[in-house]
Amino acid sequence: MTVQSVAGDAEIEAVATTHPQVERAVVSDGVIQVMPADTAPQTEFVAQWRRLYDDLYAGDADDSGTASFDGRPDGGAASAGGPMSDFSGWTSSYTGELIPAEQMEEWRAATVERIRGLRPSRVLEIGVGSGLLLWHLAPDCAEYRATDFSPVTIANLRSRLKSSGVPWASRVHLRAAEAVETDRFPEGYFDTVIINSVTMHFPGHGYMRRVVEQALRVLAPGGRLFIGDNRDLSLLPEFVTEIQRTQHPSAAPAELRDRVDQAVAGHEWLLLAPEYFVATARELPDVAGVDIQLKRGSQVNELTSFRFDVVLHKGPAPVRSLTGVPRLPFAGRPELTAELVRRPGEELRVTGIPNRALLRLLASAAAVRRGEEPPPAQEEAGLLPEDLHLLAEQLGRRVVVTGSAQPGEMDAVFLSAPEEEPLTDLYEPREPLEPASHHVNYPQAAELAEHVRRFVAERLPGSDVPAVEIVNALPQPTDGLRNLEELNGSRS
Ligand SMILES: C[S@@+](CC[C@H](N)C(=O)[O-])C[C@H]1O[C@@H](n2cnc3c(N)ncnc32)[C@H](O)[C@@H]1O
Repeated sequence: MTVQSVAGDAEIEAVATTHPQVERAVVSDGVIQVMPADTAPQTEFVAQWRRLYDDLYAGDADDSGTASFDGRPDGGAASAGGPMSDFSGWTSSYTGELIPAEQMEEWRAATVERIRGLRPSRVLEIGVGSGLLLWHLAPDCAEYRATDFSPVTIANLRSRLKSSGVPWASRVHLRAAEAVETDRFPEGYFDTVIINSVTMHFPGHGYMRRVVEQALRVLAPGGRLFIGDNRDLSLLPEFVTEIQRTQHPSAAPAELRDRVDQAVAGHEWLLLAPEYFVATARELPDVAGVDIQLKRGSQVNELTSFRFDVVLHKGPAPVRSLTGVPRLPFAGRPELTAELVRRPGEELRVTGIPNRALLRLLASAAAVRRGEEPPPAQEEAGLLPEDLHLLAEQLGRRVVVTGSAQPGEMDAVFLSAPEEEPLTDLYEPREPLEPASHHVNYPQAAELAEHVRRFVAERLPGSDVPAVEIVNALPQPTDGLRNLEELNGSRS
């Protein structure tokens, strides 16, 4: 490599790093790899989502056509299910059509059950929306405070509560506020904070971290932060492959692969891997434990395939670690049933269970990656998390089901402990675990990449500016910066 080309890379790195939204930049293999700054302006990104939700729920009020969560029209089926089941906006990412109401009801019932298991009484819900959870949880709570960044959403919910005449409405308090604005609530006040199906709208790790830290602040010791319906970053290729396949059924394999690559790189939702939460629990001293579970549901759909629920337990409080529960590799459903019958009351972690909600999606994404036709759909092998719950119920056992660091597999831990016992170490990440910031994407990546490229090109006229790639992490220290220092030294 010549001194000239090294200097070129170093200069590009140095210039890119002066962009206000860039933490660090490294030129590698002809690409500028950029790590975004945590303080990158997020206001406009959040404001765009707020406008979308204001429009969605304004549509609710006048019953005209409305926008869905991904910005597509949903045909104005605003509140067909009544105020308690307003699933407007819940459209399929694959087809853009509304997700069937019975699938949404199942999703909601499972979420409500999961949160009820936390014994909520003094609750804060962040991003309450139309109140899908509130209508079911608030009647049994001593106090239910809820916020949403969309004032229209809050106004609608307030008027629906008022006109419903429910006696518990006086225990519900609503306020328009962003997820990061929980500072008005007193420290250590709530026993449960709920953030369900909201994280995908956050602009990045920095914002997410602030939301989690502030939610922990308002929780009492022993309190639970339920962060539900997170989209799994580790399954992003499978998710976008399914979207692209559905929307472009006659695309040739090479075209499909290009579409998937572009959709992965420019994905505009915030996705978090389960590892994100394990790392968060290790990084934040207030967190005593983390419980990550797959969603229940009898249908295979994007809600059951790609999303998971998390509970962060605030310390100091006793939390039961599942490390050390005896392990058994999965050998088939009949074998599992026989083993559970043979060992009544014994605790057991069954590992490597093939997840039926994922097997076809993984095979399809792998084929598209190889530039091949996706395999035809066939009779699915494996089990759903729901099958394991039903099996446990039949046998009078309790089970918790989590994903696995091995794609397409899950672990089921059969427990003898009561439901309310707080758990940790259910999900087992690959060790050593990288920091949380490495397990999250950057939803504004495409936009930032374009800004940085233009920024560098304007400041280094005449030079060939490489493509920009947004990454979560970069090795320390950068060779480029060292080389620039050497070069500057040799120039002076
Ligand atoms: C998909 S809906 C979920 C509503 C409700 N949590 C549920 O589970 O049915 C997402 C909600 O989060 C709200 N939201 C999105 N980003 C937010 C933010 N940064 N701060 C506060 N609310 C937000 C939206 O206005 C919307 O009502």
